Amino acid sequence: MTTVRPRTEQDRAKVAAGVHALDTQVRNGMLLGLGSGTTSHWFVRSLAERVQEGLDVVGVPTSTATRDLALELGIRLADLNDVPPLDLTIDGPDEIDGAGNMIKGGGACLLWEKVVARASHRMVTVLDDTKIVATLGRFPLPVEVVPFGWVSTRRHLARLFADAGLGQVRITNRMRDGELLVTDSGHYILDAHLDAIPDVPGLAAVLNHIPGVVEHGLFVGIADAMVVGHPDGSAEVRTFR
Ligand code: 5RP
Repeated sequence: MTTVRPRTEQDRAKVAAGVHALDTQVRNGMLLGLGSGTTSHWFVRSLAERVQEGLDVVGVPTSTATRDLALELGIRLADLNDVPPLDLTIDGPDEIDGAGNMIKGGGACLLWEKVVARASHRMVTVLDDTKIVATLGRFPLPVEVVPFGWVSTRRHLARLFADAGLGQVRITNRMRDGELLVTDSGHYILDAHLDAIPDVPGLAAVLNHIPGVVEHGLFVGIADAMVVGHPDGSAEVRTFR
């Protein structure tokens, strides 16, 4: 197993958040949802070190990438279908506001991430301090759609944004290696460049009504707390409820 070390200030902040989450949120015997993305993967690496020291946890991964990393590092895993509600999920946001609402899905894992978070008694998000914003929307909002009729679904989305008073929103197709990116569930991702989302719960509710939309990256009322890390290695917990 190769040891990966943080190289940038932002990575040091991500590591600090993960370690503080381990110290303050994770207990022996927990069933743990394991998030996706770089911050979550730093957390998984720190978790693996604790497991080697004797911590007993079982993880449920939110992506095939996190599954592969956890297995490589020797963390025991379970299928979500085979376990009771999880004690805790630890996952990272792309953006988070003061109320704990988040945009997620920058790594295209939003569907499994939302399912796992919702299957957990608590969800705690880990982040470096650059992810905190006054208003969500600068980060493009990922929307996961079924391949069938996806161009029509994209038109429907554009109409919905216009009807919601958000204007002519640019929607881009998420690509990887020159092809449409295919998610772990076989879907596509559309990214909506909204700039600012004035009514996050309102938009989250209507997005779920479009046929062809499987899930979207607005996580409203899901995070119970956030663990914010800083480049100097410090971190703190802020609770939302
Ligand atoms: C993946 C996600 C990630 O959790 C989110 O993109 C944050 O990633 P990172 O920690 O790399 O900034 O939602 O779908």
